[in-house]
Amino acid sequence: MSRTVLITGATGTVSTALIDALEGADVRLRALVRDASRADGLRDRAEVVVGDLDDPRSLAPAFEGVQDLWLLTPNSPRAPENSMNAVWAARQAGVERVVRLSVIGAAHDAPNRSGRLHALSDQELERSGLRWTILRPHWFMQNLLNETGDIAATGTFSLNVASSRVGMIDVRDIAECAARVLLDAPDRHHGRTYTLTGPRSLTFDEVAAELGRVLGRPVAYLPVSDEAKHKTLLGHGVPEWIADMLEEYARAYVSGWGDVTTDAVAGLLGRPPRDVADFARDHAARFAPAV
Ligand SMILES: NC(=O)c1ccc[n+]([C@@H]2O[C@H](COP(=O)([O-])OP(=O)(O)OC[C@H]3O[C@@H](n4cnc5c(N)ncnc54)[C@H](OP(=O)(O)O)[C@@H]3O)[C@@H](O)[C@H]2O)c1
Repeated sequence: MSRTVLITGATGTVSTALIDALEGADVRLRALVRDASRADGLRDRAEVVVGDLDDPRSLAPAFEGVQDLWLLTPNSPRAPENSMNAVWAARQAGVERVVRLSVIGAAHDAPNRSGRLHALSDQELERSGLRWTILRPHWFMQNLLNETGDIAATGTFSLNVASSRVGMIDVRDIAECAARVLLDAPDRHHGRTYTLTGPRSLTFDEVAAELGRVLGRPVAYLPVSDEAKHKTLLGHGVPEWIADMLEEYARAYVSGWGDVTTDAVAGLLGRPPRDVADFARDHAARFAPAV
């Protein structure tokens, strides 16, 4: 009988790509959402269940009959609590395997709060007694989609990362790695942590050049100060906690912390990860000026 996979974060960037990657596979997909009205696009591909990772009492029905949990927590100071609630619900329901999305460099001494928060949840899962696999991806190429407005309007985008190099990864590759793990036998990747990156470590001048090549017009990266970026993010309604977290990442990247690539995607998928040129080509329409 097919296994039932519960997908958390089902309306978000990574889990949407995971649902795409599991299309046609012999699994029953169940999508956890907080707000059923936001799940219309999911209903033809998954059974939709309502639950909130902030509220443990809401989770039991969603976890009933589940064999595999895809555990994604939002960027929030409550992420460890969210993860704890999900792991506890998984234990109570007899879930066999948890595949967890963490972050590159998650550790108790990571230079950013996100990495330190993820380390708490990684460690809890490792000691849960459940079968587990942890995916630690690098900076998402899809973060560049936050810059589509500026690029379309001005041909420029601004980040506070100076000339740092980042081994950025296309979210579609993260999703395909997650799907690979979930479709393999439960013991196959038990106890493994995979640090997932793209094929090369890039400066944002190089990223701009790739975007310009695909769009057929110049695109420039404008380095800005932490203060300027912080102000812009707050102006766009980004919560202060997130703006502060992003600033910690930016500082780490400027120190060289993000200049990392691994062979993990190729090891799991048997092919190299997508390059930023692939990302730019496949998302070109999103960066084009409105006509
Ligand atoms: N961006 C990067 O470069 C990067 C790199 C490595 C790792 N990460 C990690 O990736 C994760 C974020 O993934 P993403 O970008 O796919 O997320 P996302 O697009 O921001 O989506 C977050 C998802 O979590 C759901 N959610 C939020 N609060 C919830 C709650 N209390 N209960 C249940 N669901 C809740 C949201 O549902 P609603 O529709 O209800 O809001 C949404 O589906 C974070 O853990 C982050 O640390 C990010």
